[in-house]
Amino acid sequence: MAGRVEGKVAFITGAARGQGRSHAVRLAQEGADIIAVDICKQIDSVQIPLSTPEDLAETADLVKGHDRRIYTAEVDVRDYGALKAAVDAGVEQLGRLDIIVANAGIGNGGATLDRTSERDWTDMIDVNLGGVWKTVKAGVPHMLAGGRGGSIILTSSVGGLKAYPHTGHYVAAKHGVVGLMRTFAVELGQHMIRVNSVHPTNVNTPLFLNEGTMKLFRPDLENPGPDDMKVVAQMMHTLPIGWVEPEDISNAVLFLASDEARYITGVTLPVDAGSCLK
Ligand SMILES: NC(=O)c1ccc[n+]([C@@H]2O[C@H](COP(=O)([O-])OP(=O)(O)OC[C@H]3O[C@@H](n4cnc5c(N)ncnc54)[C@H](O)[C@@H]3O)[C@@H](O)[C@H]2O)c1
Repeated sequence: MAGRVEGKVAFITGAARGQGRSHAVRLAQEGADIIAVDICKQIDSVQIPLSTPEDLAETADLVKGHDRRIYTAEVDVRDYGALKAAVDAGVEQLGRLDIIVANAGIGNGGATLDRTSERDWTDMIDVNLGGVWKTVKAGVPHMLAGGRGGSIILTSSVGGLKAYPHTGHYVAAKHGVVGLMRTFAVELGQHMIRVNSVHPTNVNTPLFLNEGTMKLFRPDLENPGPDDMKVVAQMMHTLPIGWVEPEDISNAVLFLASDEARYITGVTLPVDAGSCLK
């Protein structure tokens, strides 16, 4: 039986681990070849370790395990020239481009907005907003050249639909992603290119499950662990869970990427266990 994205090529940022890796694997399972990029080194303002070259190599192995091809490159999404070189080389090798998943993102800081440093602000906006714009800008010419339309999925957050304290710069960037999504959708619709955003709640990845976040959720405890955080995280949701798994987001990305969603564009799709109801 043909896969849901059989024969298509997907360009995914932040693909070395977490949700990006999961998207690469899920799309490969359903028949897509992958162009995978990730920074694979540290950004100074980010408290948790970012990905490594070994992480990206592991994603490549997982995709190849599904008998799909993958082109990988170590690229910072803030660098448009490097993004363009990577996607150009990937398309040269894999032959086409049908799907863009602008997923790379960071968390940094953790202060209220009036106390956020300029460095944390600038890195946040440059990666989580500027990087999304540059990713789409680098990929779109290949979709247009193919003349077959396409699907672009931008990773926002529940924080792109409502506010959370202590992450105002993240909330601003993720709301900005919705503006990018809507504008790209109206500009590219005439070419049958669809543009949507996904809005995950807490996801079980290093960006969320780390010491800093646990302390933010449980300032009352000296050394909070995942179970301590879960009690509070659960209160954010209508469904009684603290966080979702990367695969839950990948299934939404797969749907939007596939022809099952062929007339869906300009949509903000929460995968949020009912967080937006609260
Ligand atoms: N984890 C959550 O709770 C959560 C919730 C809502 C939205 N998100 C969003 O989901 C996306 C994926 O995050 P994740 O949860 O998989 O976290 P993660 O930290 O596991 O993965 C993020 C990946 O992006 C890469 N990256 C960071 N900056 C980069 C840059 N400048 N250039 C290229 N690659 C870069 C990292 O190296 C890492 O591999 C992010 O946009 C994040 O904001 C996460």
